[in-house]
Amino acid sequence: MNNNFRRFLRKMLCCPECHSSKLKFNTHKIICLSCRSKYRFINDVPILVDTTSKKILQKELFSTSGYVMVKEYIEPKKHIPVPDLTFNIFDRKKLHKLFTHNENEDYVVLNVGGGPKREEKNVLNLNIGPFPNVDVVADAHNLPFRSDSLDSIMMAAVLEHVQNPQKVVEEAFRVLKKGGFIYAETPFLQHFHGYPDHYQNFTLIGHNFLFRKFTKIETGPTTGPFSTILILISNFFDDFIEHKYMRKILLILTCSFLYPFKYLDIFFKKNLNSYKLTTGVYFFGVK
Ligand SMILES: C[S@@+](CC[C@H](N)C(=O)[O-])C[C@H]1O[C@@H](n2cnc3c(N)ncnc32)[C@H](O)[C@@H]1O
Ligand SMILES: [Zn+2]
Repeated sequence: MNNNFRRFLRKMLCCPECHSSKLKFNTHKIICLSCRSKYRFINDVPILVDTTSKKILQKELFSTSGYVMVKEYIEPKKHIPVPDLTFNIFDRKKLHKLFTHNENEDYVVLNVGGGPKREEKNVLNLNIGPFPNVDVVADAHNLPFRSDSLDSIMMAAVLEHVQNPQKVVEEAFRVLKKGGFIYAETPFLQHFHGYPDHYQNFTLIGHNFLFRKFTKIETGPTTGPFSTILILISNFFDDFIEHKYMRKILLILTCSFLYPFKYLDIFFKKNLNSYKLTTGVYFFGVK
């Protein structure tokens, strides 16, 4: 873990059990001076999960799909070489820049459900699993951060995997500073996928409703209808063709033939109906 993240955690963390900020940091442990809870480190990563979350999450992590996730994250699957079928109809790069770039060297963005990818060097990953590039192990339903403390929070493809998405968004609202940014991207028309479990997807309206306490800056669909249909077709092969090699061949052939059609989504960038047939939706706002 870099020194910037270490300083950030010492300043911002609180006890997930009692929310006290009176923490004592030892080399191997964090001790809450209010409720005496002790939290250990695994390879320099603090495990800040409260007792209730631990019970629920352990069950999830050790469910079948949880195992798949752990396996995939720890030994990434060899990807089948198929062209990408996604064409984004919004400027994700521009949006990401707005909440990740800052003159201040200490500026850190919390990525809830983040890792194993590191989005930017100042993006700190929080996850329920101690995967590669995860900096804090904690439950999104009970963030181990002080209220009104963080500058910026992002969550990508996470709200569909949590049991209580409204609670997760409320936690983000609690820990964000006034004026802090929130960015979330969540599936709408996507097939069932685990990690560790898949509870719900969101329409644009439902997603905006989750974030109603924030002031909206920009929201919308992530892809147009062509990408959505193409991705669902490829999901069909992934989910229903049992034979491994047959599945690979069909995926390579169909994706190679279909992917040029995704560019037709260029014409749906400004279409007011795009939110009706999109793979996902996003919300960018401020507290
Ligand atoms: C589909 S993956 C997305 C990973 C990453 N955000 C990305 O965009 O590549 C969903 C992630 O959410 C994490 N997650 C699920 N439930 C969580 C919870 N209650 N608290 C923290 N992370 C959670 C999972 O462990 C998993 O890594
Ligand atoms: Zn405590």
